[in-house]
Amino acid sequence: MSQTTGAQSAAAPARFSDVKGWFWPADQLLFDWFLARQERQELRGDLLELGAYLGKSAIFLGSYLREGETFTVCDLFDSPAPDDPNSEEMDRSYATLTRRAFEANYLSFHDSLPVVVQAPTSVITSRVSAASCRFVHVDASHLYEHVYGDIAAARALVAPDGIVAFDDFRAEHCPGVAAAVWGAVATTGLRPICITGTKFYGTWSDPEPARSELLSWLSTRPDMWHGVEEVAGAPLIRIAGKKAVAPTPPRSRHEGEPTPSTPSPATPPKPRAPLTRRLARTLLPRR
Ligand SMILES: C[S@@+](CC[C@H](N)C(=O)[O-])C[C@H]1O[C@@H](n2cnc3c(N)ncnc32)[C@H](O)[C@@H]1O
Repeated sequence: MSQTTGAQSAAAPARFSDVKGWFWPADQLLFDWFLARQERQELRGDLLELGAYLGKSAIFLGSYLREGETFTVCDLFDSPAPDDPNSEEMDRSYATLTRRAFEANYLSFHDSLPVVVQAPTSVITSRVSAASCRFVHVDASHLYEHVYGDIAAARALVAPDGIVAFDDFRAEHCPGVAAAVWGAVATTGLRPICITGTKFYGTWSDPEPARSELLSWLSTRPDMWHGVEEVAGAPLIRIAGKKAVAPTPPRSRHEGEPTPSTPSPATPPKPRAPLTRRLARTLLPRR
């Protein structure tokens, strides 16, 4: 599957693999496993994603939404970031992101949009009910202070037996995520269930039932290596998923239409609004 993170052309995605993002087959399999398990258990509740970008993981998550449940995504999209480091992070990594592109992508796969909160994730506890979410995906800012706040929000919003997934919990370019996630394990009672190369899956409830069922399922998956290691007094399942075979992807209503082409070098994608942020940073006094 080809996935890149550059600017996406305006054409509607004909396939899930046309949506740019950072959501790899091993994590698609794990989202599918956790969410399908909740369905089997008839565990009801809402879905929440902090950090949607162009919708790759949101489109996938949205497929598991059931009647009467709410899916909320929170992202700044093209709004200004709340502080300088976050603003620099946005310019560096998500300069061409727009809410319109997210919505067009999402609506290529689903009939209606999720509830979109276009704001810093710090507002999310005022927009989603406490203890209402059966699955929370935390993938917004990768800076320590923000992730620390997002973890606190996830803890407040996740329902009993709910699952929380944290992106990039061990990548060298974002040590703040590792510090915040393992800090939460040490100090808040966050219980790890498993890790892939890119995400940490845990719960603030009893992790044991999910852990043992996951181990049984993994033993049927020759495409993913797994092992168990004692970490902070509990077994942690490690999963290496480089060869993982992705589950059936969500289907685009534009399937069969021509694939979006790469923008020609003569018409480079327009940056989002980094100029205003750069100007503001130059002209306004620093905090
Ligand atoms: C890594 S991307 C999300 C990737 C997406 N989940 C996927 O799988 O493709 C991070 C997103 O977080 C958003 N973001 C960064 N800082 C934020 C903040 N303080 N509040 C809300 N969203 C933020 C960015 O706009 C960006 O879309």
